[in-house]
Amino acid sequence: MAKVTIDGKTIEVPEGTTILNAARMIGGEIVPPAMCYYTKLETSGGYCRTCIVKVSKGSEKDPRPMPKPVPSCRQTIMDGMVVENITSPEILEARAGVVEFLLINHPLDCPICDQAGECSLQDLGYEHGKMKTRYEFKRREFEKIDIGDKIKLHMTRCILCYRCVKVAEQLTPGRVHGVVNRGDVAEISTYIQHAVDNEMSGNMIDVCPVGALTDKTFRFKSRVWFTKPVDAHRKCDTCSGKVRLWYKGEEALRVTARKDKYGEVEEWICNECRFDHKKTSDWTIEGPSHIDHHSVISANHYETGNALAALKHDIAKQQKQLEGNDMKLKEGAMNPNNQ
Ligand code: SF4
Ligand code: FES
Repeated sequence: MAKVTIDGKTIEVPEGTTILNAARMIGGEIVPPAMCYYTKLETSGGYCRTCIVKVSKGSEKDPRPMPKPVPSCRQTIMDGMVVENITSPEILEARAGVVEFLLINHPLDCPICDQAGECSLQDLGYEHGKMKTRYEFKRREFEKIDIGDKIKLHMTRCILCYRCVKVAEQLTPGRVHGVVNRGDVAEISTYIQHAVDNEMSGNMIDVCPVGALTDKTFRFKSRVWFTKPVDAHRKCDTCSGKVRLWYKGEEALRVTARKDKYGEVEEWICNECRFDHKKTSDWTIEGPSHIDHHSVISANHYETGNALAALKHDIAKQQKQLEGNDMKLKEGAMNPNNQ
């Protein structure tokens, strides 16, 4: 075990744990944002630099600070390490610079983007970005392409996090897409417009942190915050069958995997569950999904922390009032002066 202190909070973690995962074990606002790291995808991380932190003490044995910010998703902790994240003004400034870089080519088309409301870049820009851009040159643009009949690639929005490539590599039998070219002409592409056609390919949509890969069966159907997420399951031979249904009224508009509080998929789901079963009768409904990510999806919803507490409070208040009225009625009925 090794001891690490992150923003003044100390925790003991197994050797080999990354700073990011140690921070996640502590939890709360000291956890660095992560746009490319994904727990369930091997070798992910190290591309986006949003998770940078300052190591002000390397270890007990060698207390020298690290000379420059390090990506917390890749840097493993050493016994006695001291890390600064939100307590370091330099890191906050550097992260704002990373956000500025990520947004250089990312179009601000949130009003028409299906990912709005569950976009990690939107959250990142809001929490760590600046009000204005200094960029005045032409942004790179790509034609939208279909990769398979269910997935739309809008490359202009891609931040090259490589998560979808790792999904294809690690979850599907034959990868037919990847990052071609390098530098500012790098792009996600299929080999000569091959269709990404295998039973787990839909998971690319879920891991994409922005709106670059979207579900064609859901595109433009609804803003996500108008839908209500519900956890459900079915017996499936290919995957766990544990999903999240997104309802608008009586209709399930889309099916996704369930995500944890860091926006990562809990269990991968197959394309049959995702695309072919949108009827309520196909599923056993478990109940409203717990959305504790601080996104707009949780706004106005019935289940989330404060809303649920407020609802319970209201119901308790109304019940008390009703009981009070009952008592008054009974007292009134028993009062001889009223007879
Ligand atoms: S398409 Fe999405 S998941 Fe794939 S590299 Fe681009 S941003 Fe990442
Ligand atoms: S999350 Fe660490 S570099 Fe992207």
